[in-house]
Amino acid sequence: MDPALLRDPYPFFEYLRKHDPVHRADLGFWVVTRCDDNRSILVNKAFGQGDFVKNIQLFYGPDFDVMSHPAYAWLSRVFVMQDPPDHTRLRSLIAGTLSLKRIKAMEPRIRELARKQLQAFASNDHTDNFITGFAYLFPTMVMCDMLGIREGEFSDELLLSLTTAIADTFPVFETRALLPAELEKADRQMVFLTEFFDSIFDDRRRNPRDDLTTALVNAQDGADSLTGDELSTSVIGLFGAGFETTAHMIGNGTYLLGVNGHQRQRLTQDIRLAETVTEEVLRYESSLQATYRTALEDQLVSETLIPAGDRVLTIVASANRDETVFDNPNVFDISPREQKPLTFGGGIHYCIGAALARLEGKIFFEELINGYPDFVVDVDAARLRKAFLFRGYEYLPVTLK
Ligand code: HEM
Repeated sequence: MDPALLRDPYPFFEYLRKHDPVHRADLGFWVVTRCDDNRSILVNKAFGQGDFVKNIQLFYGPDFDVMSHPAYAWLSRVFVMQDPPDHTRLRSLIAGTLSLKRIKAMEPRIRELARKQLQAFASNDHTDNFITGFAYLFPTMVMCDMLGIREGEFSDELLLSLTTAIADTFPVFETRALLPAELEKADRQMVFLTEFFDSIFDDRRRNPRDDLTTALVNAQDGADSLTGDELSTSVIGLFGAGFETTAHMIGNGTYLLGVNGHQRQRLTQDIRLAETVTEEVLRYESSLQATYRTALEDQLVSETLIPAGDRVLTIVASANRDETVFDNPNVFDISPREQKPLTFGGGIHYCIGAALARLEGKIFFEELINGYPDFVVDVDAARLRKAFLFRGYEYLPVTLK
């Protein structure tokens, strides 16, 4: 929470990569910053999620009743927090519904939603904040559309309640104790989200459609299928995992093109670069800065012993700036790079929504530049979020023209 670190963490990461790459933090966990170490931990089965309650108590103390909080009880059941075999079973039931074929087929619809919401933002007199006026809404609309919640079925108010509920709930992913008011709000909003999605699943059981919700209700792997509780838990997980992450990929990219006139000009001259812009935004200013793991047995990382049971923060945003892997890592350059960033993680928890996020990024940058080539970002007034894990702006004034 150090303001200097939140403003610009990259010099701190560089210092750690060079001088203390496997750092024991006073907060009681390890901090790993080099690309190779991050990658090797993420693919190593000896690092998993471990004891959920103990992991959360690390932030609050041993007396904290983790499972009495609906938001943490939910988090404990999401498959990103689970180890095999539970993780394998849930992930494979969900993965089929997010197939590349299904994502590709979504392209025209995602483009239509991007175009429409950009137009709505351009003609909106109430706000100049691109984060709340576009970036939060767009991925939520895409997920609603995928789930088959049709436009006529949700009002602007419902869209706003959903995005607010997801934003209020997701601080439980942060690597810190929440303030009592934050935790109370997260718990309350989790109850709202669960009831909302339960009602949609009930409807699809009675009235099946050709949509992701029906596919999830029917998702089966042999004799196995998702229980009612697993359905709403997983869908809230999909919404949430793709929310701050995708929104800030869009916000960070808009800011970066706003301050890098030369790169923006290159994109304007060759719109095919929209794909590599997305990749470079994900690398240079990763909207998810880190993930964590628990050592399930004693492990050596770059010659440092991490004892079984210890928690490790794998800083993918630092891996993406590792000078031994990326040329000129501190330069935002939209030319294709040989190495892929570590932004979507690795190993068995590799982001299940990576293809969707990449497609949303590509479409967004194409529509932004094609529709509003002279857009202006008020970079002096832009304000970063005061949080570590999801990096992006809380206020990003943009004029579309
Ligand atoms: C720019 C956008 C995104 C970024 C940066 C991102 C990043 C990540 C990362 C780093 C992980 C691995 C977490 C870990 O190892 O502990 C992950 C997992 C996951 N992501 Fe994403 N994500 C993005 C978009 C999405 C979207 C759009 C969806 C949903 C459609 C999604 C759904 C998930 C899920 C369900 C997991 C858990 C996978 C597992 O545990 O097997 N993500 N994401």
